[in-house]
Amino acid sequence: MRSVPPLTAPFGGCEIDSVASKRFAIRTYGCQMNVHDSEKVATLLEDSGLSAADGEGDADVLVINTCSIRDKAEHQLYSDLGKLRAWKAEKPGRVVGVGGCVAQQVGDKLLGRFDHLDFVYGTHNLRKVPAMLEQADRGQRAAWVDEEASQDRFDLPMRRPDAPVGRRHKAFVTVMEGCDMFCSFCIVPSTRGREISRVAVEIEAEVAALAEQGIREVTLLGQTVNAYGRHDVRRGKAATVGTMPFAELLARLDAIPGIERIRYTSPHPLFYDDALIRAHGELAHLCPHVHLPVQSGSNRILEAMRRRYTRERYFEIVDALRAARPDIAITSDLIVGFPGESEADFEDTLGLVERAGLVDSFSFKYSPRPGTTAADMAGEVPAEIAQDRLERLQSQQKAQTLAYHETRVGQTSLVFVDGESRKGQGQLSGRDPHHRVVNVDVAPEAPVGPGDALVVDLVAATPHSLLGRPVDPALQPVPRD
Ligand code: 5AD
Ligand code: SF4
Repeated sequence: MRSVPPLTAPFGGCEIDSVASKRFAIRTYGCQMNVHDSEKVATLLEDSGLSAADGEGDADVLVINTCSIRDKAEHQLYSDLGKLRAWKAEKPGRVVGVGGCVAQQVGDKLLGRFDHLDFVYGTHNLRKVPAMLEQADRGQRAAWVDEEASQDRFDLPMRRPDAPVGRRHKAFVTVMEGCDMFCSFCIVPSTRGREISRVAVEIEAEVAALAEQGIREVTLLGQTVNAYGRHDVRRGKAATVGTMPFAELLARLDAIPGIERIRYTSPHPLFYDDALIRAHGELAHLCPHVHLPVQSGSNRILEAMRRRYTRERYFEIVDALRAARPDIAITSDLIVGFPGESEADFEDTLGLVERAGLVDSFSFKYSPRPGTTAADMAGEVPAEIAQDRLERLQSQQKAQTLAYHETRVGQTSLVFVDGESRKGQGQLSGRDPHHRVVNVDVAPEAPVGPGDALVVDLVAATPHSLLGRPVDPALQPVPRD
C-alpha cells in the first residue's frame, strides 16, 4: 500500500468518535459505473458499521467519486476540494476521501496538493475504503490506486442480503470492467485499466438475488459491455474461466424469474454480431432500446478517433437491430470539434443522426485529455466553431426527439415509476421500455409510487418527455364521468 505519513496531528487532539458511529455522504460525478461504484462503497461503509447521513451538512465522512472524461469534470474536483476545507474545519473528526477516475489518474499527488484530504482510492480499490477510513481516524493519510487484475475486484457486496430494497424496482449489475479499445480521445483505458469480464455464474447469482429482493429491471454495466467474454472466447478459454459471448449471457439472464426488463450500457459497435442482433428479436425481457455511441458521422474522423468502424457499418447495425425489433429506440453519444473536423465532416454527423433515426443523444465538445493520442493531434477546432456545431447538432436532435415522441402519442405503454416528476405536485415520473421519460398525472390519493408499474396511454409529447394518463380510471386525476 502506498501511504504517506500524516502532515500534522490530525484534528488538534480532539476526541474522535469511533469509526463505526460515523455518518457518511457520497458525492458522485460521471457515468453509471460511478453511480454503481458509489452504491458499492456505501454498502462497504454500512457493513463497517457506518450509517448514511441525511446530507453532507450532517456527515462526518465525505467521499467524492470523480469523473475525468472531460476536463470540466476534472476541474470540478479541484473546485469541490477547495470548498471542502471549510466543511472539514466546521466539525472535528471530519474525513474527506476521493475516489473514481481522477483519483486513479492523479493518485497520491492529490494528497500533496490538498492537505485536508485524508484518503484517495483508485477505481479497483473500493474494498480498501473502510480500512483507509480507519487509518484516517488515526491520522494516517493514504492513497491506494493499484490495478487489480483478478476476479477479486468483482467481489463486492452489492447490497447486504438482508437489506430491504424498499420501493425500488431497478438495479445496476457489473458484468465487465475496463477498456482495451484506446479510442484516441478517451482517457477511460488509463483510468479503468484493462478489460476483464466477470464469471457468468456470479452475474446470474446476483441477478437472481436481486429478483428475489423485488428488483424487476437490471442494467448490465461495462465500459464496452458487449465485449463481455471476448478475450476468453478468442483464446478458447471461456469455458475454463466461466465467461461466454455476450448474447449467451443475455439469454441466461432473460430466463431468471422475476426479471422483467434487461438493459445494457454502453456497447461498442465493433462487438455487434448476428447473435446479439438476434437476441433483440428473441429475448422476451431485453428492452427495445440501445444506447449505441457513434461519436462521429465522418469516416475520416472515425478513423482518427480509432473507432474501428465506418458510418456504413453503423447503419448496417442500426438497420439490423430495427429488422430484429422494429420498435427499437436507438440513442447515441456524439463528439463535435475533434481535431481536424471540417464543416463537411460535421455535416456528415448531422446526416448520420438523421439517417440512423437517433431518438436522442448526448453530445459533447471535444476536450483534450492527458496521455491520449488525440491530445497531440494538429487541427484544433476554434472554440466558437465547436460551440456553434454543438448547438446546431443539439437543435437538430431536439427536433428529432420531439418527432419520435409524437409518433408514440396514442400508444399504450408500461411505466416503471422512479419517483415524483420535476414538476412535482403529485406528478409521477418513470421510464417506458424504450427508456423514454414518461410523466404521469395521478389522482392525489392514488396508491402508486416509486417501484410500481403503471399502464398508461401516451397523450402528449415534448422534446424531453412523454405525458401518460393511467389506463385505470381509479388512478386518473379527474375521474371519468
Ligand atoms: N472529449 C469529449 N467527449 C468525450 N467523451 C469521451 N471522451 C471525450 C473527450 N475527450 C464522450 C464520448 C463518450 C462519452 C461517455 O463521453 O462521447 O461516449
Ligand atoms: Fe473510451 Fe473508446 Fe473505451 Fe468507450 S470504447 S471507454 S470511448 S476508449
